[in-house]
Parts: sequence; structure tokens; C-alpha cells
Amino acid sequence: MIRETIREITILPGQNRKGTKEVFDKIHIRPGDTLSIVGPTGSGKSAFINDIEIFANRDTVTGRQVLVNGKLPPEHYVRDPAAKPVSLITQNTRCLCDLNVSDFLRMHLLSRGHMKESCIQETINLANQFTGEPIVSYVRMTSLSGGQTRSLMVADAILISNTPIILLDEVENAGIFKEKVIETLRQHHKALLFVTHDPLVSLLSDRRIVMQDGAVSKVIEPNGVEEHAIRQMLHMDGIIGQMREMIRAGELVTAPLPVSYR
Ligand SMILES: Nc1ncnc2c1ncn2[C@@H]1O[C@H](COP(=O)(O)OP(=O)(O)OP(=O)(O)O)[C@@H](O)[C@H]1O
Ligand SMILES: [Mg+2]
Repeated sequence: MIRETIREITILPGQNRKGTKEVFDKIHIRPGDTLSIVGPTGSGKSAFINDIEIFANRDTVTGRQVLVNGKLPPEHYVRDPAAKPVSLITQNTRCLCDLNVSDFLRMHLLSRGHMKESCIQETINLANQFTGEPIVSYVRMTSLSGGQTRSLMVADAILISNTPIILLDEVENAGIFKEKVIETLRQHHKALLFVTHDPLVSLLSDRRIVMQDGAVSKVIEPNGVEEHAIRQMLHMDGIIGQMREMIRAGELVTAPLPVSYR
């Protein structure tokens, strides 16, 4: 099946939990955009990206509608998993598949109609750039750690599913290298929506969608005014990252850590 090029996804407003219409007019998402979805627990962040994943057509609790290239998406986007231009990776992504990593990726390649065997190792190599614990091809999918599974799913979404839109629901807690993921997704010209409680991920996104009571309450586009905050956050994140690695490695943290400016 020939895939239509996705130039733009448009989200049309629904209503909050009390039935009040959302404040935005339209939200456009284009390949290469990075957005973070922020807000308190229960504010509707997952519901927002789930609406995109299923191409809501005023048929979900939020009442939103999602258009592709300005039109209602074709039926096969919704029905056929292989035609779907969206990948969703959640915190609960588990693999119950009793295959080793390379057989699992091969199966996915075949179901997507690709035959390029080299893609399997490329996917594993990319996943290993996102995680500190390298994945090897002969290990069973079920024995991968949470962070390894999520890293492999992100790499799979980029190289095998190769969808133009990738939705990530709170994957940062899984111990994956979030800056590396954002940078790689930008390079591959994907649209990326990150549900996140992580200040660095939020600051690194081009736009922040703020959720409240089931609705979008604000869309913020900092346009460079947060540069100082990004530098400060990178600095703190660097120190936290070093400490985390030392603690993980069983070391004592006895002296102040050298400052690593990134
Ligand atoms: N506009 C809405 N109208 C009615 N119900 C809604 C609306 N938006 C979200 N909900 C419902 O509210 C509940 C919480 O929403 P959701 O799971 O999206 O929160 P969240 O922000 O992802 O929370 P967490 O940070 O804990 O993951 C869900 O049951 C969801 O279906
Ligand atoms: Mg959620």
C-alpha cells in the first residue's frame, strides 16, 4: 500500500471534564516538530496522545478530532496497524513475545513488507545508543529490562515501522538517554510528542502543551527565551546523571563532582 506523505496533523478542540470547550483553535503538528505534553497527574496527557494514536473523530471522552493533511484520515490508517503513520510507546510497553531480539525484529520487518536484513542490526545498534545496558541480538525479548525494551521500541519505530509521528508516554523513567532520543528523532525528521514530567525534556521541546482538567489550557512556544534555563538544566542533569551512574556502579560519592558543561 502506498503511504500518503504526512505533511501535517491537525488537532481540533474538544471539551474538558466539565464539558467546557478547549481554548485553542487548532494545533498543527508537522514532521520535525517536538512537543511536550505537561500537566498534573490525571490532567489528560495520555488521553491527548491517545486521541492522536486512534485518530479521534469526536468519538472519545475528550470530543477531539484529528485530521491528516487537513482531511479526515483514510479508514485504513485506523484499521490496519501496518498502514498507521503513528507509533505509541508507553511506560507499560511489555513484550510477551517468546522470540529472540533479531527474530522479533525480522518478523516485524517482514510484516511491514521490508526485506532488508541489515535493518535488524541497525535497529539494535540504534537502541544501544539510547540505553546504558547493551542489547544483544540472541537474547529473548521477554528477558530485556524495561529500559532496554523501550529503547528497542523507539529504535524500531524509527527504522522499521518508520512512522512519521512518534508518541512517547512517560518513557524517561525507564532510564533511557532522553537527549539522545530527541536528537535522533529530530535527525530522522519525525514529529515527536513527549508526555513528560521531566523538566529537561520539556525545555528541549519546541512547544509545550499544558493540560488541566482533561483539556489543553495553554500552548507555549518559548522561541529561545528559555535558553538560560536549558543551560542550567543540562548542567544539573549532567551532575545527576554522573551521580546516578556512580551509585548504580556501587561507588561511594565522597567528593563534589566535576562540573560537566554540555
Ligand atoms: N476531556 C476529558 N473529558 C473526560 N474525561 C477525560 C478527559 N480527558 C481525560 N479524561 C479521563 O481522565 C482520566 C485521566 O486522564 P489521563 O490518563 O489522560 O491523565 P494523565 O495526565 O495521563 O495522568 P498521569 O500523569 O497520571 O499519567 C482518564 O480516565 C481519561 O480518560
Ligand atoms: Mg498518563
